[in-house]
Amino acid sequence: MSQRDQIIVAVTGASGSLYALRTIRAMLLMDLHIHLVLSDYARVVINEEVDLNLDFKSPLLPQFRKLYSIPEGKGELTDYPLKNQAAAIASGSFTVKGMVVVPCSMKTLAGIAHGFSSNLIERSADVQLKERRKLILVARETPLSLIHLKNMTAVTEAGGIILPAMPAFYQKPQTFDDLGDFMAGRILSLLGYDQTLFPKWEGGNK
Ligand SMILES: Cc1cc2nc3c(=O)[nH]c(=O)nc-3n(C[C@H](O)[C@H](O)[C@H](O)COP(=O)(O)O)c2cc1C
Repeated sequence: MSQRDQIIVAVTGASGSLYALRTIRAMLLMDLHIHLVLSDYARVVINEEVDLNLDFKSPLLPQFRKLYSIPEGKGELTDYPLKNQAAAIASGSFTVKGMVVVPCSMKTLAGIAHGFSSNLIERSADVQLKERRKLILVARETPLSLIHLKNMTAVTEAGGIILPAMPAFYQKPQTFDDLGDFMAGRILSLLGYDQTLFPKWEGGNK
């Protein structure tokens, strides 16, 4: 295995696929090794929301390199089929720095909150919780039902972090990518990295 930090990135079918793409871009540029799992609906929503013509039947790393001008040798990405629960990342013996589900649908949130482990995303998240490793769920839905809120509470009580897909505006975003980078930056900070995607708040003038 490479000497790079290993991070699991799962993408599900909630709105906000741009958050996932900007997170993947930032992690590759930071020379991390991404272990990527996409749900079936993640593919549907990505195609619906962004016009990037990603070909999910071909290796994704070269496509990300081209899309975001990421040099060869910078970062690594391994992708896994959703149904492959025999994948390395389904085991606690595979050491990773943490896992992020970005964006996280209410369906996957429910599966994680109740320990279903019914696919590789839910199983890997379950593993991070049992191993007491960092698990970040970029939950996205509005409005929220009591069921959603209770599931978020359950994940929080189990040690996971709910990072709502709520970009801030004090950094004066000019583009959608700026909004995506805000969430990517928050994810990286929670994973323990110094992020430079948006300026830190230095305090007000008054
Ligand atoms: C365009 C589109 C946007 C969606 N946005 C959301 C959303 O923001 N939050 C959510 O919980 N589900 C959303 N859904 C529904 C999920 O995709 C659906 O519940 C799916 O079964 C989630 O499965 P997954 O978690 O395995 O990806 C959306 C679906 C579509 C087609």
